[in-house]
Amino acid sequence: MSLIGIDLGTTFCAVAALDDRGRPFTVPNRDGEVLTPSAVYLAPDGSAVVGQAALDMALEQPDRVATLVKRRMGLPDYGPQVAGREFRPEALSAVILKKLAQDAALQLGPVTGCVITVPAYFDDTRRKATMDAGKIAGLNVIDIIDEPSAAALAYSTQQGEDVTQPRTVLVYDLGGGTFDVTLVKLGRKRFQVLAIEGDVRLGGRDWDERLVNWAADQFVRQGGADPRTDPQALVHLFSTAERVKRTLSKIEQASFTVNHGGHKFTFPLARGDFEALTRDLLVRTRLTAQQVLKQSKLTWDAVDKVLMVGGSTHMPACTQMLTDLTGKAPDRSLAVSEVVARGAAVHAGIASAAMDVGAALPAIPDLADVVEISVNAHSLGVEVRAGTERVNDKLILKNTQLPASVSRMYFTAAENQTRVRVRILQGEAHQAEACIPVGECWIEGLPPNLPKGAPVRVKCGVASNGRIEVTATDETSGRAVTAAIHRPGGLSDDELARAAEWVRALKVQ
Ligand SMILES: Nc1ncnc2c1ncn2[C@@H]1O[C@H](COP(=O)(O)OP(=O)(O)OP(=O)(O)O)[C@@H](O)[C@H]1O
Ligand SMILES: [Mg+2]
Repeated sequence: MSLIGIDLGTTFCAVAALDDRGRPFTVPNRDGEVLTPSAVYLAPDGSAVVGQAALDMALEQPDRVATLVKRRMGLPDYGPQVAGREFRPEALSAVILKKLAQDAALQLGPVTGCVITVPAYFDDTRRKATMDAGKIAGLNVIDIIDEPSAAALAYSTQQGEDVTQPRTVLVYDLGGGTFDVTLVKLGRKRFQVLAIEGDVRLGGRDWDERLVNWAADQFVRQGGADPRTDPQALVHLFSTAERVKRTLSKIEQASFTVNHGGHKFTFPLARGDFEALTRDLLVRTRLTAQQVLKQSKLTWDAVDKVLMVGGSTHMPACTQMLTDLTGKAPDRSLAVSEVVARGAAVHAGIASAAMDVGAALPAIPDLADVVEISVNAHSLGVEVRAGTERVNDKLILKNTQLPASVSRMYFTAAENQTRVRVRILQGEAHQAEACIPVGECWIEGLPPNLPKGAPVRVKCGVASNGRIEVTATDETSGRAVTAAIHRPGGLSDDELARAAEWVRALKVQ
């Protein structure tokens, strides 16, 4: 009987569990690797392969391999067909999750529940898609947790009991596909997120892409055919770019060889050149870090520690930039690629202790009564008309402590109206169309014969894990009425059940 934490990354995944004292440890996959590449190969025999072997297959059969699925979470489809079929991102993520849980079970025994991590900056639609992926995989998803919070949680357990004075910690998390910065206050048995900023489309992959374009442009200039137009050559280019990037984190000078269409050229590249090619990307992360500090009205002097998380922080330029920005050397004591999964395992322990889900689990005193407080990464609002304009009426502001809820009164527009619809938005913009539409909240089942102008109270809330909830009350009778969010791009219960059946029957290695 085990609880696990799963870091479902854009490019790599990791799994962790808790020992009997509540300390997290990483669980390697069946190949003994701590990280499993987030790649799915769909074989002609109908089975699936996840991990490094799938990445290797992408070099031969790119049209049978799905990668970077997390970048598509919250959207209705993965994009290109995989093995001739269209997929929802949730279903492909579920295949990855099934493999991770299956490998973990080999070592830990049956997995009773899991916590899956999400970028702090994920909106409700993407959070729901992640939870659905877990359900499709047949997992008991106890909760989701923000990746930087998980990292800070793991860090605080690593520090042991000596957290007598609360400390303010900045977590800079630059992964393969997403970027988050979070300010956290760590105390004994108390864990509080102060502010979140981020970018759901910025990560190591963008650094790779710069290198790919740089090498391909030079290749073309030397007389070669553009390798980017050939899907197989493009996979090779990305794979070389990633290797060159990693090399440049260790040594100052590397080279990039492109072999395509009968031409082979090698281009030397110094670390400084690579940094120049990608400077604006790093500057974006710097601005975001400044932003989070501003949001929390703190100065760098008030920040006790800077934690670096995510594989991309191996790039020396990150350390340099953060030292320069914050005036302190970032803490490198964490295993940057494992710490998120470990924190998720800790959260699973805390959540299950609080919910008593795992009555079968041994009680872990260290994790009992830990208070975790988070904030919402995006403002929550409803669409209202102001003249001819549709604007975002913000109900719960960004960086409000969670859980939070706000009530609004609505009035029926006609006699005998039985339902009211409210459009729910996430985002900071004033214009409704510039925000992220969460969906329509349908308030239904109002009693018959209500007069025009009858009051209906709608309560919108954000739960501790960032998920949006709505409830409504018919104020005339004082009774609760149904309120459900209908997400246009979301997965229906039927689709979810069908996808779950497909994954259940799928052989995954
Ligand atoms: N030594 C290194 N130098 C530079 N980049 C590296 C190094 N090692 C790993 N990376 C990069 O780190 C990224 C993977 O990091 P990580 O595993 O934290 O991301 P992820 O969890 O897959 O993504 P995300 O958290 O954004 O969903 C990849 O882009 C990889 O190329
Ligand atoms: Mg990650």
